[in-house]
Amino acid sequence: MERGEKTFFITTPIYYPSDKLHVGHSYTTVAADALARFKRLIGFDVWFLTGTDEHGQKIQRSAEAAGKDPQAFVDGIVAWIKELWSMLDISYDDFIRTTEPRHKEAVQHIFNKLYQQGDIYKGRYEGWYCTPCEAFWTARQAEDGNCPDCGRPVELVAEEGYFFRMSKYADKLLQYIEANPDFIQPTSRKNEMINNFLRPGLEDLYVSRSTFDWGIPIPFAPKNVIYVWLDALSNYITALGYSSDDETLFHRYWPADVHLMAKEIIRFHTIYWPIFLMALGIPLPRQVFGHGWLIMKEGKMSKSRGNVVDPTLLIQRYGSDSLRYFLLREIPFGTDGVFSNESMLLRINSDLANDLGNLLSRTITMVERYFGGVIPTPEPEETTVDGQLKNTALSTPARLEGLMNKLQLSSALEALWALVRRSNKYIDENTPWSLAKSEDKKGRLGTVLYNLCESLRFIGVLLLPFMPRTPGRIWSQLGMNDLPALQDWQSLSRWGLLPPGIKAERQADLFPRLDVEGELKALLGETRPPEGKRDAKEKIPEIISTKEGVEKMISIDDFGKVDIRVGEIVSAEPVPKTNKLLVMKVDVGEEEPRQIVAGIAEYYSAEELQGKKALFVVNLKPVKLRGLLSEGMILAATAEEGKLALTTIDSQLPAGSKIS
Ligand code: MSP
Repeated sequence: MERGEKTFFITTPIYYPSDKLHVGHSYTTVAADALARFKRLIGFDVWFLTGTDEHGQKIQRSAEAAGKDPQAFVDGIVAWIKELWSMLDISYDDFIRTTEPRHKEAVQHIFNKLYQQGDIYKGRYEGWYCTPCEAFWTARQAEDGNCPDCGRPVELVAEEGYFFRMSKYADKLLQYIEANPDFIQPTSRKNEMINNFLRPGLEDLYVSRSTFDWGIPIPFAPKNVIYVWLDALSNYITALGYSSDDETLFHRYWPADVHLMAKEIIRFHTIYWPIFLMALGIPLPRQVFGHGWLIMKEGKMSKSRGNVVDPTLLIQRYGSDSLRYFLLREIPFGTDGVFSNESMLLRINSDLANDLGNLLSRTITMVERYFGGVIPTPEPEETTVDGQLKNTALSTPARLEGLMNKLQLSSALEALWALVRRSNKYIDENTPWSLAKSEDKKGRLGTVLYNLCESLRFIGVLLLPFMPRTPGRIWSQLGMNDLPALQDWQSLSRWGLLPPGIKAERQADLFPRLDVEGELKALLGETRPPEGKRDAKEKIPEIISTKEGVEKMISIDDFGKVDIRVGEIVSAEPVPKTNKLLVMKVDVGEEEPRQIVAGIAEYYSAEELQGKKALFVVNLKPVKLRGLLSEGMILAATAEEGKLALTTIDSQLPAGSKIS
């Protein structure tokens, strides 16, 4: 297959629609965006694809829990996800939704083709399934009843359907991976895939489902829907028009240069996906890169742990460029990194307000003070420090390019900051304020300030992929906004292109210094578990106080710390060897029901609780009761003589409604 010259195709995973996309999700998208922007900047014809993965049991259940038709459910959320990407300046070229006809038709074509050529066959499946990961597991893999990836309980699936002959391609894939060392990156992930999955042998994969219907129907067996990962992975080619009337994009951009994602879905992309492609006779992507997780002190940021950080809040307070900078700079790309509000605020202050912001404001202030705002003409002689500054500036683009090609985004920013710091050091070395004291040093003063302005021009261009809003603000202060020829990559091959005589103008600080203590307090107040987007009609009734009345006064802030939600008891069972405890699965509006253990067995039977709605505190620290993890507490009132009664809930209230 022919592929366009100097093209670059980069993808993010397609996200499950959730109105709780957190800063962890933004991490992949921002990284992909920085790469896409970088490649465009250096002259590549780039296609950057992202989108949403809208089918499957998990989405169907979430829609049911929200009392919505699945299509209406996903439509609302996808609009919100696009809004978030726009707030973060994500410059995607296409956003694919797996519910679009263009995708559905192509996936049906793929399924048909694989069936007709004998790679898909009919059979009966019995095994384990993790709905949150939408992943099948063998009994050996899920031996403790939990998903080996996310640790949540697996469910038994027994049904008739269709299998894909993974086993037929396993050796070919192993050879491919070994012959192409860059295919799976970082290398540690490659070894994991080979040793944990490929060498032990691949079982054929069950690629249909028949116990729910929210998916793409199999054309010749429409009671079955296509397994959501076969559906979702295909987006990378269906978005390019594969098998449609117009395959121009497919021929131009496939194979992908980089599929970017976090490590937990590397397996799907480096085993299932290449095998599907091999079976279809399509070349494999050049690289699958699995970066690390953004974690909080207490573990991976995830909705079910309630430790997510809401990116919109951070963008509103600090701007999208600051958040982008922090995400890209803080964590060496590939490894896990801890996110904390404090580390973000400190970095904004040190790197953005101090290093970059001060460099610009000091320079422009001096140009105004000593030259009436007109960029001075430099003298022809060059001192040692001038040469050092110039050489640092001229060598930074190539360094940056080398690091970006290896996806070392954090190191690339570090290289760029070396120029920012070199420029600040240049101010200290030359002490322009002393030069300004004598008229005969005016020429030298002009040279120093010119060099600083030229260095800031370089910094602006180099910042473009990472912080798309900041360069324009720098150039505007330098008075060079109308000089596009000085804002591109080629313009960095020469030092001294900034025309003397243009008018610089001091404007607002790029990044005002933040009061870390104050901001930490403010963020703490605002980062309660996000409530999601609820319809106005889902208003919560008042909570009735217990008959003891109010014993101690607490403030509204104290109350605000307690997250109480309506939960629907999906199932309940007595806990063996006790007559007090019941273990329940409770839907509190999350991806999957939580396990909650409660001491109510003496007052309620397991059967009677099933399907009931009650109030639950959902942000208590999880505890183990009789060895069973309990992730919440049911609210009950003392009725009479120590008897407990559950608070009754209007049955109209959907699970997950927050009491406030
Ligand atoms: N829908 C699948 C992907 C299908 S691709 C054919 C899926 N979606 S997801 O919504 O769960 O998002 C997964 C991606 O979000 C991860 O691969 C990762 O890129 C990103 N992240 C989610 N949580 C993250 C962190 N805490 N840290 C870093 N990245 C995170 O899986």
